[in-house]
Amino acid sequence: MNASTTIADQLQRLLANAHAPYSGVHVACAVEGPDGRLHLGVNVENAAYPQGLCAEASAISAAVTAGETRIVRVHVASNLPDLVWPCGGCRQKILEFAEPGCEVVTIAPDGRTDSRTIEQLLPEGFRLERG
Ligand code: THU
Repeated sequence: MNASTTIADQLQRLLANAHAPYSGVHVACAVEGPDGRLHLGVNVENAAYPQGLCAEASAISAAVTAGETRIVRVHVASNLPDLVWPCGGCRQKILEFAEPGCEVVTIAPDGRTDSRTIEQLLPEGFRLERG
């Protein structure tokens, strides 16, 4: 991959790999560790609808499989015209591994971006321990 390829470009290409025959909504996600390493995922739908997997959950699985347990940034793109934000369940999944202030960056097909911290997206998220 060319060093000048942006994360937005990578996610745009990755959207083609989403398995979304039921909704037609393609989502791609990159989870970034403290050293800048990226772990990618797409949504994977299933004929038994509730078994479908969000792109964020896919990417978090890839990260944990690679030994990454700290997330400093999450990038999300979709084929919908507007900016998309992770669903409620995925916000909780991100929180599990998020460093304080972990940024969630959303990227529209036309290149527009916006970002929020995970604390903004999921105030008072569930944690077993505080501190
Ligand atoms: N989806 C994601 O991949 N991430 C989200 O945060 C919200 C929704 C997927 C799930 C389903 O395959 C499609 O988008 C439509 O809901």
